[in-house]
Amino acid sequence: MVRVRGIDVHPPLLNTSCAWASDLQQLTALYDCPHTGAVSTRTATLSGFKEDSSHTVAFLAGSLSSINSYGYSPHPLSSYITWVRMLLERDSLSSKPFIISITESDPESLRKMMTAIQDLRAAHPSWHARIAIEFNASCPNIKGHPPPSYNFSSLSPFLDIFAEHFWADPTLTIGLKLPPYTMATQFDDAISGITTYTRQCGPSGQYVNPLAFLTCTNTLGNSLVFSDQTVESGADASSFALPPGIGGLAGEAIHSLSLGNVYSFSRLLAESADPALREIVIIGAGGVTSPEAVTRMHRAGAKLVGCATLLGALGIAAFAHLNREQPNAAVDGTSDSSRDKATGA
Ligand SMILES: Cc1cc2nc3c(=O)[nH]c(=O)nc-3n(C[C@H](O)[C@H](O)[C@H](O)COP(=O)(O)O)c2cc1C
Repeated sequence: MVRVRGIDVHPPLLNTSCAWASDLQQLTALYDCPHTGAVSTRTATLSGFKEDSSHTVAFLAGSLSSINSYGYSPHPLSSYITWVRMLLERDSLSSKPFIISITESDPESLRKMMTAIQDLRAAHPSWHARIAIEFNASCPNIKGHPPPSYNFSSLSPFLDIFAEHFWADPTLTIGLKLPPYTMATQFDDAISGITTYTRQCGPSGQYVNPLAFLTCTNTLGNSLVFSDQTVESGADASSFALPPGIGGLAGEAIHSLSLGNVYSFSRLLAESADPALREIVIIGAGGVTSPEAVTRMHRAGAKLVGCATLLGALGIAAFAHLNREQPNAAVDGTSDSSRDKATGA
């Protein structure tokens, strides 16, 4: 069992926020699956995102990878609040938590979302331990709004609101969804930005940071795949896999980059002079398509491991697949049976 501030996750495996965690039916299947230790919801905004046919996903041929042009969920936060409440009320014996993924471009709307989630957490004495919040600051597919976490200081007005709610209610479990970074300065900027929120608390003088976890990584933006590179048969070689052309790459194609992000953050957090940062848990995601990839994420420093592309490819069976026994778990890179097993090849 992994404790992330107020929530317990067991097994340490979950879906990351994605299009396959969008509606009540999908969330119910994720909640009922014995191989998920928590359920992340698709990123919601206060009023819902206008989705059209240009927002879609394609799977690559020859690699368990995806490219997508989705923005955020068309369902507003109020729908997720209703669905999470229904599932929590349905099953009083379960202790599985939900991670509600949210974002907004306007801090005041974010404040309203936080109030709504806090009202839900307060609705039952045990629900403060069943609901965490993830701030998605890294979607690459929003026109005119590049992922704000590539410019970490631009997150301040939003992190201020999360911090304000956390200091008012330190049971709140808050995480930050980050994009794949490629430069040392980007990691340093994130760490320096996060540490500014640490405070020394209570009679024990313990150092506490409002952030309990980081989820690394989101998809890699500005990626391009042609139709004849996808699993779609008879696709036109001259067209793009996604209507806009450009989209967010995920799955095995970004696995090494995601591992590198998990490794870099876990080292920086562990070596930080700020004791509160050493408590931050990493959820590793990006190309987790096999039990061997789960092990690699743990070896890179992730305490929890998530997947999205595999969920899209296999459905809920993805989690039983990731929980399989590993014949050669100790030998990285030589025993990776992911693609064959997951695709049935
Ligand atoms: C179709 C699709 C939709 C996604 N939607 C979201 C989202 O709404 N919010 C979010 O934080 N991440 C979203 N992601 C990113 C995933 O949570 C995950 O971080 C990323 O895809 C890497 O994991 P993977 O290689 O297992 O797919 C989405 C990914 C995919 C493939």
